[in-house]
Amino acid sequence: MIRAADSAAIADAAALLRQGGLVGMPTETVYGLAADAFNAGACARIFEVKARPTFDPLIVHIAAASWLERVANLDALGARVDLVERLVARFWPGPLTLVLPKAAAVPSIVCSGLDTVAVRVPAHPVALALLGALDRPLAAPSANRFGELSPTKAQHVVLGLGASVPLVLDGGPCGVGVESTIVDLSGPEPRLLRPGGLPREVIEEVLGARLPSGQPVLERPLAPGQLASHYAPGTPLRLLAKAAAVDAGAWNVGLLSFGAPPDHHHYGAVEQLSEDGNLAEAAARLFDCLHRLDGLRLERIDAEPVPALGLGLAIMDRLQKAAAKGQP
Ligand code: TXA
Ligand code: MG
Repeated sequence: MIRAADSAAIADAAALLRQGGLVGMPTETVYGLAADAFNAGACARIFEVKARPTFDPLIVHIAAASWLERVANLDALGARVDLVERLVARFWPGPLTLVLPKAAAVPSIVCSGLDTVAVRVPAHPVALALLGALDRPLAAPSANRFGELSPTKAQHVVLGLGASVPLVLDGGPCGVGVESTIVDLSGPEPRLLRPGGLPREVIEEVLGARLPSGQPVLERPLAPGQLASHYAPGTPLRLLAKAAAVDAGAWNVGLLSFGAPPDHHHYGAVEQLSEDGNLAEAAARLFDCLHRLDGLRLERIDAEPVPALGLGLAIMDRLQKAAAKGQP
């Protein structure tokens, strides 16, 4: 059931979570499927509802940086704790997830048996109110079935997960629209594990150094070949090499356009990410536009590329993964 996220609904959601239930929760990036992070049974249910492989760990949400010690073992970082402090001071609450040595209190199912935990403070008043009401960290992956489109509206959660989620708090459309940027601070050098809602460039500014990419958990050699596709609509998606041409397309093909679409084209449907090429607007609209095109039962979606800088890096990452569906 979708409920407007007023204080009564937030109190009911906290009660549900306390009993080991699941709640759909708005964040500034995408909607999350939340469970009490200290309740292993409730977290196991997340994997079940999402049909998510248990080797794909969850992100833990906390209300403030002062909660970090409840989920992470900062002592194990030694001098690198200084880096955590600088990033947290600058970017939390916000779309930055840090991978840190885990505290013993976090059940191993949350971290898929790794000795690290992914943690962030979401910049959304409803998520923060819910965390405050529960006074416990929340494990919350995106509230979609594994490999499918991420939800940026409460309706998307119900569309994807149906009745298996008893309560979805409606906090309106997500402002950022792509998942958080994940930075691994557990190794000797910081690594970018997933481009996302916080541009790599602004993190590099704070680090005073380049932020090289690391290998995301799902691409580590656990289950080779199995997971090329992600964030994918049901409709096959093709990532175009350049902007769609005049007279391109077909009536049963949809166009995901960045910038103004060509004047004369044969596409059956067009969704425009941002008419004037604004990457922040494009990120915020990405999944909603894909959900709409996916609902039209088209034969294919053609996606125009966006510049791979700033938020464009996260958008291109999602489009490439969506295009990988069905590929070997
Ligand atoms: O914006 C977001 O991050 C959203 C909202 C709900 O907060 N959440 C989200 O969760 O995107 P999810 O489950 O879709 O992404 C979790 C990803 C995993 O696939 C993995 O790549 C990474 O976070 N992750 C989690 N724990 C990790 C760990 N211990 N080490 C490395 N990567 C980890
Ligand atoms: Mg996800």
